[in-house]
Amino acid sequence: MPFTLTINGRSTTVDVPGDMPLLWAIRDVLQLKGTKFGCGIGQCGACTVLVNGRATRSCQTPVSAAANVPVTTIEGLSADGRHPLQLAWQDVDTPQCGYCQAGQIMTAAALLTTTPQPTDADIDRAMTGNLCRCGTYLRIREAIHRAAAIKGTR
Ligand code: FES
Ligand code: FES
Repeated sequence: MPFTLTINGRSTTVDVPGDMPLLWAIRDVLQLKGTKFGCGIGQCGACTVLVNGRATRSCQTPVSAAANVPVTTIEGLSADGRHPLQLAWQDVDTPQCGYCQAGQIMTAAALLTTTPQPTDADIDRAMTGNLCRCGTYLRIREAIHRAAAIKGTR
């Protein structure tokens, strides 16, 4: 059945089963590979995208639930790679293997929208479901603080 997805500001029609995970549609149908498959069961956060501005596990979200609402993937976070989180991630040299990092950044993006100057506790609470096997948690926290500061100067 056709569904209209609005991904990164572009509307596109996908003809897929309504219960297909949004992650499948994003990666395998629309070929946006920045969003990662980690666990597939809602436990790791690697697949996080924004649905209506909220950090959402795309592996647990059926396409039918994401139709006709704005979806943002890591590719759509900024037009030029200069979103404050992207700049901060580079400044802090946050990633190690990198696999979890798109999901980390999308969760952080949702946090900064609701909490522009988060405390350590705010960050830890918001990011707790995003796992990093490389243990980059302290650098992620530092980068979010840095992104908040960059955002504050704009
Ligand atoms: S792949 Fe979706 S939460 Fe792990
Ligand atoms: S940077 Fe390797 S899993 Fe997070």
